[in-house]
Formats: sequence, structure tokens, C-alpha cells
Amino acid sequence: MSEPLRIALAGLGTVGGGVIRLIETNAEIIARRAGRPIVITAVSARNRGKDRGVDLSGYHWEDDMVILGERPDVDVVVELVGGADGPALALARTTFEAGKALVTANKAMIAHHGIELATRAEAAKAALKFEAAVAGGIPVIKGLKEGAAANAIQRVYGILNGTCNYILSTMEDTGRDFADVLAEAQAKGYAEADPTFDIDGIDAAHKLSILASVAFGTATDFQSVIATGIRRVLAADIAQADALGYYIRLIGMAETDVDAHGNRRLFQRVHPHLVHRDHPLAHVDGATNAVVVEGNFAGPLLFQGAGAGDGPTASAVVADLIDIARGDIGAPFSIPVAELDPATPAASGHRSGRAYLRFTVADRPGVLAEITAAMRDAGVSIESMIQKGRGVAGDAPGAGQVLVAMVTHEGPESGIAEALRLLEGSPSLAEAPLVMHILGE
Ligand code: NDP
Ligand code: HSE
Repeated sequence: MSEPLRIALAGLGTVGGGVIRLIETNAEIIARRAGRPIVITAVSARNRGKDRGVDLSGYHWEDDMVILGERPDVDVVVELVGGADGPALALARTTFEAGKALVTANKAMIAHHGIELATRAEAAKAALKFEAAVAGGIPVIKGLKEGAAANAIQRVYGILNGTCNYILSTMEDTGRDFADVLAEAQAKGYAEADPTFDIDGIDAAHKLSILASVAFGTATDFQSVIATGIRRVLAADIAQADALGYYIRLIGMAETDVDAHGNRRLFQRVHPHLVHRDHPLAHVDGATNAVVVEGNFAGPLLFQGAGAGDGPTASAVVADLIDIARGDIGAPFSIPVAELDPATPAASGHRSGRAYLRFTVADRPGVLAEITAAMRDAGVSIESMIQKGRGVAGDAPGAGQVLVAMVTHEGPESGIAEALRLLEGSPSLAEAPLVMHILGE
């Protein structure tokens, strides 16, 4: 067997601990598949004295993790610290300056700096791999780069945040409240260091921008992802959706097409959707992620599995290491950076579909007429409507208020935006309406 692949681990938290356990437990199977052993030589984290439940005595410790990139006994640096900038980015740059490979689970860093880092990696003729950054243990980056490589892909969408999916599906199953379930997701190690990244859709937006780049051959464009999280979803919305035959899921969706002027257009949105019970994504529960890739020859491909947690994420990290051990450098985003298209970001104006709208309104005569008049004036057709209030359980509206939920017929999304604009500032509305699009059936 050839020389071992020597790795350094920066970050020994949920994922870092998982990587150590996986490399130690499956050492033999990994060595056989990689063609050589993968060994850890050095590690770094913030607090050397912390008990991590793993024995670190066989590894060199570096207080300054950036030094890992310069160590002569390291071939690959594995960055499992997190954060778009700061020490993670400094370590990545140092690693490529030293001509070494980098494996990372850090979607924030790849979404913000992936193009710069891929350029550095290409210049250094070194690998940059980030399978674990998108959908945890699911090999979707590999699926796109390899299995679906022959297809033109127009659309990729799915459930990309385990924390949000855990919260929504647990609220659905148990009726428990948002804050309580979020605390549980944090305790299980699913949530980001700053959980607002999860619940405000930012983490899913990071992943979506990476996925879109690999799927479409476009440069990553995190800034143009339109992101809404699940903070405003009430138990009452979950109950209404259920009554209508839907579950609520946070969906990331990216599409590319060519506009009327012949320009390549890229639409990227993270948004809570109503997903019909018959759709496979409706039954994706807990911290599970699922991604649908629509290939022009393969048709829809569904990738599903654990999207977060130590074991699944470590599995994706070590799969990247095995590729590197076999000599696979590859282009980080499938094709060389210079050949990635700079697609024009698209807003939602060109799209159409059905939507769920929820209004919290004053319980007095004429309010419904005001809302429906705005819908009429904006050309939005209402398919069904439910009013709840005056004693609704759980997160009921305030005194003197009612919840009005409606589902629209298929129509341009621009119509809904116009109806909301017409209602803006209305004293009848206690808060801004909540819009959730309905995933196409
Ligand atoms: P944790 O918070 O559990 O671990 C982070 C680790 O980084 C800790 O060991 C911490 O040290 C170390 N660290 C933090 N700041 C510094 C610093 N300034 N210098 C040196 N070390 C530092 O995070 P996770 O393991 O959950 O996540 C790691 C990465 O993986 C993130 O990019 C995350 O987005 C990504 N990821 C996480 C998944 C998950 O399920 N958790 C899934 C997919 C990706 P110490 O322990 O001493 O405090
Ligand atoms: N915080 C992320 C999630 C971890 O909940 O999906 C996996 O990337």
C-alpha cells in the first residue's frame, strides 16, 4: 500500500469529533477504498483542555489553527470550524499558499469566498472539496459532478436545512412551540453556531448558492438568493396547511433559463412552501434533507438522507478525503473557475404558481372586503379561504384580531406582490401578511 495521506483537523466540535471517530473506527475499510491509509497528524481547536470524548494524545496540537496549513507533515487540511471569514478563511488561504489540499464543511465560507478559493486551489493544483457543506451526509455534490454530469440541469430544489425541517416536522407532529423545538435541534448538534442562520434561511441560502453553481456551471452568487426563513410560521399555519392537504417545508430552489434578450438568468430562492402530501418532499421529516435534481436526460433524481449531525457529516468529509487519497483533484465547481458563467440574477417576477397567504386582521366589518378588493385589483384569484379567530388555540391572534388564510389559483407571483403593496399600511392589518408559495405538484 502507498504512503498514508496525512491530514490536519481544524475544529473538533460536532463534525470534527465525528471525523476522528469515523477515521478510527473504519480505518481499514477507508484504507482499502482509498488505496492508502488516511491518518491524522495534527489538530487544533479553541480550548485544548476540553473533554471531547476522543483521545487526542496521538496528534500534534496547534494553538493557532492557521499553522496547520504550513506543517510539513500535513497533506490535506480539514477545516471544521465555521464562519465565512476569520480563522477559517485565513487557514484556507494559507493551505493553498502551501500547495496543500483543503476539505471543508463550511458552506458560509464557500458561498462567500468559493470562487476566490477555487482560483487559489487551481493555481496551486490542489484539491478543494466541500461535499459536507451541502446537505450533510448526502453525496449530492458528487451526484451532480459525476452521476448527473452528462445532463443539462434546469432546476435543483429541496430541503437543505436540517434544523428548520426538524422544527417544522416536530411542530407538525407534536404541536409543540417553535422555541422549544429549536432548543432541541441545538442540543442535537444540528444548528449553526448562530441559529438565526438556520431559522432565517441563510444557511439554506449558502447551500443553495453552492448547489446552483455545481449544477448549472454558474459562478456562486449567494448575494442574489432571495431568502425567507420559518420564524413567522405559526402552529395555526401548520394546522391550516394540514387541513388543505399540505405540509410546510423550507425549500431552497434554483432555476436557470434564458430571458427574452438571450441572457442566462439565475433564480435562487429559499422560502417556506406548502408541499402537497403526495409530493416526496412532504414526507421528509426531522433533520433529514432531500434534493431533487432535474436532468434533461436522467429526469428527476432524488437525493435524500441525514442533512446534519456528526456521523453523516463526517461521512461526507471522509469521502472527500478518500477522493484526494486516490488522486482526484478535479475542478471544485465541476468546471474550471474561468469557464463558470456569470449568470444574471432574476427576481421572482417571471414566475407563476399558487400561494398561501395569511393575514392577521382586525375583527371588524369590511376587513375581508378590503383584502379581497386588493386581490381583485391585482388580478389574483382566490381558490379558498378560512377565517380563524375569537378563541383559536395556541398562537392565536391578539384580542380583537382574527387570522384569515387563503390559497390562490395559479397566477403570476407579481400579482401577489402587487396585492400586498396595495394593502401596505392598512390599519386593518395587525402585521405584514405571510406568503408561502405552494410547491408545484
Ligand atoms: P462546532 O461549534 O461543534 O465546532 C466548532 C469547532 O471549531 C470547535 O472545536 C471549536 O473549538 C473550533 N473553533 C471555533 N472557533 C475557533 C477559533 N477561532 N480557532 C480555533 N478553533 C475554533 O461546529 P460544527 O462541528 O457543528 O460545525 C463545523 C462546520 O461544519 C461549520 O462550518 C458548520 O457549518 C459545518 N457543518 C456542520 C454540520 C452539523 O451538523 N453540525 C453539518 C454540515 C456542516 P472548541 O471546541 O475548543 O470550542
Ligand atoms: N445547521 C445546518 C442544518 C447543519 O441544520 O442543516 C447542516 O449543514
